[in-house]
Amino acid sequence: MKARIIDGKVVASKVHDEVAVGVAEFKASHGTVPGLTVVLIGDDPASHSYVKGKERACEKVGIATATIRRDATITQEELVEIVEGLNKDPKVNGILVQLPLPKHLDEDAVIHAIDPMKDVDGLHPENAGLLMLGQPRFAPATPLGVQRMLVEQKVDMNGARVVIVGRSKLVGMPLTALLLQKGIGANSTVTVCHTGTKDIGAETRRADVLIAATGFPGPITPDMVKPGAVVIDVGVSRVEDPTRKRGYRLTGDVEFDGVAEVASAITPVPGGVGPMTISMLLVNVLQAAKLAAAN
Ligand code: GUN
Repeated sequence: MKARIIDGKVVASKVHDEVAVGVAEFKASHGTVPGLTVVLIGDDPASHSYVKGKERACEKVGIATATIRRDATITQEELVEIVEGLNKDPKVNGILVQLPLPKHLDEDAVIHAIDPMKDVDGLHPENAGLLMLGQPRFAPATPLGVQRMLVEQKVDMNGARVVIVGRSKLVGMPLTALLLQKGIGANSTVTVCHTGTKDIGAETRRADVLIAATGFPGPITPDMVKPGAVVIDVGVSRVEDPTRKRGYRLTGDVEFDGVAEVASAITPVPGGVGPMTISMLLVNVLQAAKLAAAN
C-alpha cells in the first residue's frame, strides 16, 4: 500500500480535548454546562448506534446530554411539539433530530421548527443560508470534520481542485460551501458530482482532493483516482458479512485496498471521518452555549 492512512480517531481526540477545555472554561464563567438534546425516532439500528456515540462523547467532554426516544408511529404534530418544547428550554443549547426520519414525517418541516440558534446540525435554512453567504454560524458536523481533518493533515486546500461525489444536505452541499470560502482549509476549486453527472470518472480523475459522500458501498474505484490524490471517504454502509459476529461490516464509498495503491493519503472506514463528525458536533454545541450566554 502506498497511501498514508489518515487516522480520524487521533484528530477527533485532539478536538475532544479542546472542547473539554472550552466546556470547563464555560462552566467556570457561567456556572452551567452546555446541553445537547438528541431526538431519536424509530428503531433504525445505525441511528441508535450513532446516537450512542454522540451521548458517550458528550459525557466525556462534560456536555450535558439527553436523548428523547419515540416510536416510529409518532405524528408530525407530536414531533414538532417536542422540538418546540426544546426551543423554549434554556438548559438545551443544541437540538439534534437524528436523520433519516420515518417516511411519513416531513423532515424539512421538522428541521424548520428548530430554533436556528440551537440548530447544531446546521440544517435550518437560516444557518444553511449564512454558510452559503460565507457568514457561517453552525455548519453541519461532517463537512466541518472533513475540513478540520484536511487542515490537520496539512493538505494545501488553497486553489486545490476538489471533487465531491454526492450533493446531500448533510454533506455534499454544505461541504461545497465551506471549501469555496476564502480562508484556511478552503479557497478551493470545487466540483460536485451527482446522479446527473455524465462521466463521474472524468471529473474525479482531475481531483487533487477527492471526497466521496454517496452513501453507497464502493462506487469509487482505483481507475477513478488521480495518482497522488488525497481521498476522503465519508460513506458508511452496513454490508452483510456472516463471518462477523454482528452479521455485518461497515464499508465506505471507496474501494479501499485498490485506491490506497493510487492515492497519497486516504481515510479508512470505520475510523476516518466518522469520529470527526461527533467531535465537530461537540464544537457546535459549545458554540451554541456561548452564543446563548452572550445574548
Ligand atoms: N444522520 C446521519 N448523520 C447525521 C447528522 O450529522 N445529523 C443528523 N441529524 N442525522 C444524521
